[in-house]
Amino acid sequence: MSATAKVEGFDAAEFQRRRSAVSAAVGRPVVLLGGDPMPRNLPGYGYPFRQGSDFLYLTGCSEPGAAAILDDGRLTLFLPTPGEGDALWHGETPDLQARAASCYADEVQDSAALEQAVMDAVAGGSIAALAGPDPRRNETLAWWAGVPLQFGSESGDDALVDALCTLRRKKSAAEIAAMRAATQISVEAHLAVAAAARPGVSERSLAALLQAVFAARGAEPGYGTILTRRGEILHCHDHDGTLRDGDLLLVDAGAELGPGYGNQTGYGADLTRTWPVSGAFEGRQRAAYDAVLAAWQAAVDLCRPGVRYRAVHDAAAAVIARFLIDEGVLRVGVDEALARGLHGLFFPHGVGHLIGLDVHDIEAYGDRGAYPPGQERADIFGTRFLRLDLPLEPGFVVTIEPGFYAVPAILDDAGLRERFGSAVDWSRAESFLGLHGIRIEDDVAITDGEPDVLSAGLPRDPDAVAAAVGAGPDFAALLGL
Ligand code: GLY
Repeated sequence: MSATAKVEGFDAAEFQRRRSAVSAAVGRPVVLLGGDPMPRNLPGYGYPFRQGSDFLYLTGCSEPGAAAILDDGRLTLFLPTPGEGDALWHGETPDLQARAASCYADEVQDSAALEQAVMDAVAGGSIAALAGPDPRRNETLAWWAGVPLQFGSESGDDALVDALCTLRRKKSAAEIAAMRAATQISVEAHLAVAAAARPGVSERSLAALLQAVFAARGAEPGYGTILTRRGEILHCHDHDGTLRDGDLLLVDAGAELGPGYGNQTGYGADLTRTWPVSGAFEGRQRAAYDAVLAAWQAAVDLCRPGVRYRAVHDAAAAVIARFLIDEGVLRVGVDEALARGLHGLFFPHGVGHLIGLDVHDIEAYGDRGAYPPGQERADIFGTRFLRLDLPLEPGFVVTIEPGFYAVPAILDDAGLRERFGSAVDWSRAESFLGLHGIRIEDDVAITDGEPDVLSAGLPRDPDAVAAAVGAGPDFAALLGL
């Protein structure tokens, strides 16, 4: 496979389907803004650019500074003029047609024409506008179009946002193929990290190795990599630790296809594995790992059309609750544990979320695309972090990521101790401190039949997981790290 081998199906028909559906739902011209690079320390030195996901979805264009007008299914793309000196410093810019070739736009114009085109559309009647992630561009468009625009749940037009949520939730065969490609790159990177892991290796060198595999495949991290021996810190983004004998290394990392993938850019993966650094799970680590794996299996078994995602979450939570009861931590039954959120003491997050062009797909719109209209999140400890509760449909791709964490901030929390009182044997609970965290996460496409685990190539079985650790060269020593 070449570094950026493209998958089939990102053709004119795929983009026309998306555009026609949005136009039919909105019934008037839609102005779409891509993002612009954000300055980092100096105006010309920006953060790495990532195109907005709605813009990618409708245009397939990952160029900074792009915009588009969608009218009755026809897309006009506006691309920025090269600046003075651009050819000298950044190389020649291909002409507009060449830059737009893989976007299947009906027309392509220079960005200088955008303001007048928006004015013409406004003069012709009302328009809809979709805010992008760049507030500066949103302000300009709001001024031209005379509409308030703010990225996120207040973004632009209700019919437009609802149409995008409905469309983006249900992946086409081409989208699933792109996500499978991103998953395959992620699997390679996870296996490289496991093979290089051993006591004495720094987390930083393993994070560099993971990033190297992504980059060599033309991919980028789809979110901040979590690679840590402190897996109980749910979103631990620093890599300051050094692996020690007996540690569990939790790696939560996913590639997304980079700009070299053209109109497939942005589709990503989200995978977690927990590796025993010494090459074997020790007693209680193994028991907890087995419980998380059983929770994973219970959840995946329910990933079928018509099943509410809350039921998938509860199935995983029930397995963790059962484990805690068997370990003497909980003194109530499974049903009471779930109703009161006692499982959340060790499994404090939801079982997963939608994934696609965003790692938490369409989450820019809050729960609007992920919960039934009018339904609030459950006010139950742990379950309140569940990011999705719709009946599953073929084409949804969700993560399944149960975990088990011994978090001092939870076990020491005076309010939780008062709330849960004698339902918990707190000293048994504390006996897990030091285990840190275990999570197993895969991406699952819902089909008409069996759940399709996109990351099937990454070991999950505890013996296979343990055997993968240290199975390759000592990467850190090779680099002198
Ligand atoms: N795997 C990172 C996240 O879901 O936020």
